[in-house]
Amino acid sequence: MAHKRYRNLIGLNMKIRIWDLPTRLFHWALVLAVLGSFISADDDGGVLEWHARFGYFILSLLLFRVIWGFAGSHYARFFNFIKSPKVVLSYLKNPTEVPGHNPLGALSVVALLGFLLLQAVTGLFASDDIAFEGPLAKYISSSLVELLTSVHRLNQSVLIAVVALHIGAILYYRWMKKTDLIKPMVTGDKEWAEKIPVARDGFLLRLIALVIYLTVAGVLYYFLR
Ligand code: HEM
Ligand code: HEM
Repeated sequence: MAHKRYRNLIGLNMKIRIWDLPTRLFHWALVLAVLGSFISADDDGGVLEWHARFGYFILSLLLFRVIWGFAGSHYARFFNFIKSPKVVLSYLKNPTEVPGHNPLGALSVVALLGFLLLQAVTGLFASDDIAFEGPLAKYISSSLVELLTSVHRLNQSVLIAVVALHIGAILYYRWMKKTDLIKPMVTGDKEWAEKIPVARDGFLLRLIALVIYLTVAGVLYYFLR
């Protein structure tokens, strides 16, 4: 295992694993599922069942990612990329390229995960007042269902804004700073010259990720079926 081992070749770029496979699969599955949930969020078309399925899938991905933020490989861990306001400010004054999420990007990761979690959880209690309601709506009062449905509606604009900002930032790096962040999120690797930690991404780590994901999905299925 390459964990905590350091690669060091002065002046020569080397391919270094940054994003483990579970983090990459999480990301691209999340993108597809969020698209799916928006497309199916039409309470006139009778597709809210599909909307809910996308929502449960998103919830399972988010819960997995929260656990992975503690159990995952180096760059996936929250403690390794969420920084204090002081560090964010000094990054803003002097932006230097970092191998994982940069201190500012980390804020957008937290915002994306947080607002998506809010959306998925309020969805469980939401109702379209006609034919469909989330599986937990029957356990709370109708005024609380109304309130959480409004939060679910209002938060959609917040989500569109944070996703737009996220994609805008990625494109800004691509076009203005000539840094391609997308390819590493696909292949997992970045070219790097300095001595930096290599992310673990072997069979065992992937197996652990699969067990965590299946456990999360199983627990959700049990409570929401
Ligand atoms: C619904 C749309 C999207 C959502 C909800 C979303 C969400 C996220 C999240 C949560 C992360 C953090 C990854 C992690 O550490 O687990 C992330 C990172 C990233 N996303 Fe997205 N994403 C979306 C669309 C896209 C698209 C369309 C692209 C490509 C054009 C993209 C490219 C990236 C890249 C390159 C990173 C890593 C950024 C870095 O190097 O710090 N995302 N995204
Ligand atoms: C992160 C995941 C989710 C996203 C991005 C999302 C997004 C949306 C959007 C954009 C709408 C349309 C709101 C409007 O009418 O203007 C909507 C409506 C709705 N969603 Fe979700 N949703 C998610 C998860 C869920 C879940 C898990 C459920 C339930 C199992 C759910 C149940 C509903 C219901 C019942 C409505 C209709 C509310 C109404 O009449 O306005 N959603 N959702």
